[in-house]
Amino acid sequence: MMDDQATAIAGALTGSALTRTILQAAPHAIMMVDAAGRVKAINESALSLFAHAGEAPEDLRVESMLPEVRFVGGPVWTGEDGAGAPVPLGVRHRLTGLRGDGRQAPLIAVFGEAQDETERLFSVFVIDLTDRAALDQEVQSLREELIHAGRVGEMAEMASAIAHEVAQPMSAAKNYLFALKLAMARPQPDGGRKLEELVSKVDAEIDRASGILGRLRNFMRKAPPTRSTHDLNEIVHEAAVLASTGAARLGIRLAFDLAPARPKAIVDKVQVQQVMVNLVRNAIDALETSNDRLIRVRTRDEPTGLVVEVADTGPGLPDSVLARLFEPFTTTKKDGMGLGLSISRRIMEGHGGALEAENQPGGGALFRMRLPHPDRTQTDEASA
Ligand SMILES: Nc1ncnc2c1ncn2[C@@H]1O[C@H](COP(=O)(O)OP(=O)(O)O)[C@@H](O)[C@H]1O
Ligand SMILES: [Mg+2]
Repeated sequence: MMDDQATAIAGALTGSALTRTILQAAPHAIMMVDAAGRVKAINESALSLFAHAGEAPEDLRVESMLPEVRFVGGPVWTGEDGAGAPVPLGVRHRLTGLRGDGRQAPLIAVFGEAQDETERLFSVFVIDLTDRAALDQEVQSLREELIHAGRVGEMAEMASAIAHEVAQPMSAAKNYLFALKLAMARPQPDGGRKLEELVSKVDAEIDRASGILGRLRNFMRKAPPTRSTHDLNEIVHEAAVLASTGAARLGIRLAFDLAPARPKAIVDKVQVQQVMVNLVRNAIDALETSNDRLIRVRTRDEPTGLVVEVADTGPGLPDSVLARLFEPFTTTKKDGMGLGLSISRRIMEGHGGALEAENQPGGGALFRMRLPHPDRTQTDEASA
């Protein structure tokens, strides 16, 4: 039996009908090459991956297909560092190949050795990862699209509150300019101090308006996700202020209880702010029916990680919603999309954290974001 197999394998090297069939039908690229890298046999998959149109198998060289490897009595690395070192046989190597159409291809290659009756031959198995990498990228960019769409949707709902908030400093500035014009027409007994005062008031109002627009623009920007170190309190505070634009006019108060140690977090700032904005916006919606209208924002540095809580004095989460709270399209609002919390949970999980919800004993909903400590956060560089 063993002898039969050995014969069959030996036959493969010399090209028996059976092995040729197997070789040709295999979905992965398979080649047999000699110790100098000359291609002795090649299957259909390898040809379509590596050969230019019309190129004959005999003209193919391993070096041009797999530029990281050369054959000198067997496969050796060409790379600067390990140049000349033998490529370990029988294990998977992540390599970049050069396709026949000139494009680079991420792939896995396994080299093996076989002794023919007459010469040493090497097998090269190649799995092309191009499609898989493209699919991963597609999924990733769809995920980013969804997250961005969530931000745009959240802001669209706030458009009139934001417009109002920008209009206020603009009309205040206009009033100060009018006063300035009147003052300029009169003599300046105080050496122009009154004029200076009015000018700096105009300045401050314009800063206020452009501050709101700047935060908005940052938040809406469509940028590839990047993680870096941030002051957790700062990003939480900024997002809560943005989300509560116009809330004061509804009698809603915001109370901050921020960790005095100013904990740092390695996060995608805009994404974490998006979670905050969604939680605060939901709290504002929930407070519509309450007399007591308070949103409490807390940050804490706990041994198990960083915690951000958003609690309100609204009616709390109904049982019917609790079970499906983080599922897409769960909403009790007339114009709600029901995407905010499902996107928010995904963002937190993408950061190695979590998003939890509960009803408080005294009434009202409480949402808790959890993030790992910076020293336990995988940075983009570390995970790449
Ligand atoms: N603070 C809260 N208090 C009460 N219910 C809430 C609160 N936050 C969220 N919910 C409930 O969860 C649902 C889903 O929220 P979300 O995913 O943000 O979608 P949307 O805000 O579009 O409805 C809301 O419709 C509401 O019923
Ligand atoms: Mg929402």
